[in-house]
Amino acid sequence: MTMMTAAKRSSDQTPTCQSVALHSVTYEIRTFGDPVLKAIAEPVTNIDEKLVRLTDEMFDVMYKAPGIGLAATQIGVQRQVFVYDIEEERKVILNPQIVESSGEWVYDEGCLSIPGLYVEMLRPKRILVRGINLDGNQVEFEADELLARLFQHEVDHLNGVLMFDRMTPDQRREAVTLYRAREGQPKDAEPYHLKLV
Ligand code: NI
Repeated sequence: MTMMTAAKRSSDQTPTCQSVALHSVTYEIRTFGDPVLKAIAEPVTNIDEKLVRLTDEMFDVMYKAPGIGLAATQIGVQRQVFVYDIEEERKVILNPQIVESSGEWVYDEGCLSIPGLYVEMLRPKRILVRGINLDGNQVEFEADELLARLFQHEVDHLNGVLMFDRMTPDQRREAVTLYRAREGQPKDAEPYHLKLV
């Protein structure tokens, strides 16, 4: 997921290619239209060195983008893994599940896989997410507002769901049209915003 402040920072930097080469693997952020974004990720059953390396690489890709959250599916890896950092703290959650949600909150949501488009949308305000950390322990987080939004957005990715899939057919047509228009513009052009509420 991206937020406007993160996107603004990127425009101050020299434009760079959105890929990071490490350990001879190059991960690129997959964007809308890539079928991997529609696939449902497989649960993690084994936490090994390879998985830890994957999460390190995900952080590198996320920070470079820059974004505040990244799901493994966004770099073409079909595993239930996401990383995030919204308070200068790197966090990894494996096999996440949203077990409770309540309230309503509107937020101008961005996605690294839908660059240049922010969508103001309504989702639950508070959630309880359950998953596993890199030590293999079950973890539970209560989250509110931005953090709750981030969890919902990343869990959606692991289920093959993009922001476009949370729209009515009319809204989706408008959103895709805006996205396509923005695609033809320079990377550092101002993003488009769409209000669904
Ligand atoms: Ni996203």
